[in-house]
Amino acid sequence: MDKLIVTGPCTLDGRVRISRAKNAYLPILAAVLLSDKPIHLKNIPELQDIKTMIKLLSNLGVKVEKKGEFTTFDASQLNSHEATYDLVKTMRASIFVLGPLLARMKKAKVSLPGGCAIGTRPIDLHLTNLEKLGCVINLKSGYVEAQVEKMKGVHLTLAFPSVGATENLMMASVFTDGVTVIENAALEPEIDDLAHFLNAMGAKISGIGTKAITITGVMSFHEVSYEAIGDRIEASTYLMAALATGSKITIEGVNPRHLDFVIETLVQMGAEIETTEDSIAVSGKNLKGCNIDTAPFPGFPTDAQAQLIALCTLVKGTSVITENIFENRFMHVPELIRLGANITLKGKSAIIEGGTDLTAAPVMCTDLRASAALIIAALATKGETEIQRVYHLDRGYEKLEEKLTKLGAKIKRVKG
Ligand code: EPZ
Repeated sequence: MDKLIVTGPCTLDGRVRISRAKNAYLPILAAVLLSDKPIHLKNIPELQDIKTMIKLLSNLGVKVEKKGEFTTFDASQLNSHEATYDLVKTMRASIFVLGPLLARMKKAKVSLPGGCAIGTRPIDLHLTNLEKLGCVINLKSGYVEAQVEKMKGVHLTLAFPSVGATENLMMASVFTDGVTVIENAALEPEIDDLAHFLNAMGAKISGIGTKAITITGVMSFHEVSYEAIGDRIEASTYLMAALATGSKITIEGVNPRHLDFVIETLVQMGAEIETTEDSIAVSGKNLKGCNIDTAPFPGFPTDAQAQLIALCTLVKGTSVITENIFENRFMHVPELIRLGANITLKGKSAIIEGGTDLTAAPVMCTDLRASAALIIAALATKGETEIQRVYHLDRGYEKLEEKLTKLGAKIKRVKG
């Protein structure tokens, strides 16, 4: 297993281009299954989760061809409706193929994703609402076995604004012979991006960006080229890395509106932030702590919680960060404590006494965003910090060493 050696403390300087969003492209890739026409996607990030999803599509019969910035997908001849456990167990987002397979092939056999490090992450909201659309669903030997005669347009209300459930149900509804409304839909920017992509293919989706999304069924799709939005969580990570090291950097290729709450939080902590429509310049020293609750969009994103805790460890003052979305998303805390952080966990909250000088020690990645927290801390830590099990990081951060080295960090990968 590879590890990273980060030599700190360092300061960062310059500009970094943010990759296209992992959490936008994963459902968009699943939506490829809906169409029998060519689909050209631009600047798909080279991430492990993306590779897994593309492998899953190939296993279902999708032809994939990369040509420069574009990757062309041809799903005209699907030869399977089964997403097997060996792939699904490595990436929960594989469940996104359930809706498109049912819409296109009227049947699907998808392994239950199982839990993951950050929580049990059930899919009850996906399944109960697919049944309301007319699907017959059975759970057998760890698989979801589903089929449908004719998907019918219905009025759905999500008990919780689940990102994945909203996306799966939106994709499942594009070919009904009626109108489907998803109430209490998730508002994350990646939902809007998927809806724009589906409409670009010929779907009829309205209410985008609101809590009530309306999908009017259509008969078929046409050829399309598309590029997803910038990754707001990667952007948040670089902003916090800059502030953790007292640096001034500019990040490009992301819509600041997609991380409004993160920006507002950092400004409240004392950061100076200037934005254009697709860039964010950040600087700031002598920051102070914050009190934050994670929440569905537009609230503070759970995917930036670990990175914020790493930053709060370094700034003066006490911070309280409460995780409301997942039940086990503080695994970065014991690792940060190994570096000398002063953090106490109390129920769903982490209480951080900041202003600590961290000292290098071997630490271990436990999940994707926890890994990003360790990188942020290591950049500000005196000495060589060894970060183990970086395969977690490779799932969601494209060319991380290259981007950080270009900004002036001292970071190297040791193949293991
Ligand atoms: C998406 O996961 C993201 N993943 C996650 O990002 C992100 O943390 C999460 O949304 C919340 O923003 C992708 O987009 C690929 P949810 P998802 O359904 O769809 C519960 C990362 O780091 N729930 O909104 O799984 C669930 O247990 C990843 O990039 C049910 O109870 O999130 C959780 O507590 C991590 N039943 C909460 O809702 C369901 O049927 C939020 O889950 C579905 C969800």
